Amino acid sequence: MVNKISVIGGGHVGESCSLLASQQELAKEVILLDIIEDVPIGKGLDQWEAAPVLGFDTRVKGTNDWADTAGTDIFIMTAGVARKPGMDREDLLKINAGIVKSCAENIKKYAPDSIIIVVSNPLDVMAYVAFENSGFPRERVFGMAGILDTARFRSFLALELDVSVEDIQALVLGGHGDSMVPLVSYASISGIPLTFFLDQETLDPIITRTRKGGGEIVGYLKTGSAYYAPAAGAVQMAEAIVKDKKRIFPCSCYLQGEYGQEGLFIGVPCKVGKGGMEGIIEVPLSDDEKAALDNSMNAVKSTMDDLAKLDY
Ligand code: 2OP
Repeated sequence: MVNKISVIGGGHVGESCSLLASQQELAKEVILLDIIEDVPIGKGLDQWEAAPVLGFDTRVKGTNDWADTAGTDIFIMTAGVARKPGMDREDLLKINAGIVKSCAENIKKYAPDSIIIVVSNPLDVMAYVAFENSGFPRERVFGMAGILDTARFRSFLALELDVSVEDIQALVLGGHGDSMVPLVSYASISGIPLTFFLDQETLDPIITRTRKGGGEIVGYLKTGSAYYAPAAGAVQMAEAIVKDKKRIFPCSCYLQGEYGQEGLFIGVPCKVGKGGMEGIIEVPLSDDEKAALDNSMNAVKSTMDDLAKLDY
């Protein structure tokens, strides 16, 4: 258990993160911060009042005051506006870049030794904004997307195969957008290659559904985007840090030459432990997979170019 986890942004993703982190007793205190007056205070109090029933002792506190985040060990950054129908993640760029920048500056001020898990969209570029404006080393700023994208892939495979989600291992790399790369060659059911169970014709629609998984939920919710699965992914990263589990997850990491790229965040396998992002794992890829990853990198680079033109 660490002393303090602070969730920045008290919308659906943020409030789900604070409840999950508290229920798992990952910290002595969980702070839920939002700028909307009083609302996070009410949500934090409501969650704390659930503690006697759910059986956790983590103190949950909602606040409008950054000073309450002082000394935080891990931030989960969910601040920003969510996608509305017809809006893609890139449309959010300007608004969310400004929000994430000011949050990163506050994080640097109140908890300069913390680790930041970024969930705000467009994910890979917002991770970069947090990295740039916090000035933290890359080990202490990374983004949650691959766990979510992989969870969607695993959940759809479980439905198709009628097997436990727990026995499905998979890896989705690339940017958190429709160009993400679900790697069939690294997917297995308890070690048995996925291709033993499913042919390409069956897999193709599952891969497409995974890529468009975020948009599918937006289409149903109409006024917002997914929150249960994104929050579960972010809290799983926090758990790996708190317990120094050395888990291997696909996360959005800052590349410094890995996969032939540098200067951008993109989803790649990495080790997650108490130091945060403790190392990127470069896995061999087929020519097709490499081309798909390059395509996804180009999509992120193009959003990075848009960001460079903005005064945010
Ligand atoms: C998603 O994929 C909101 O980016 C998030 O659902």
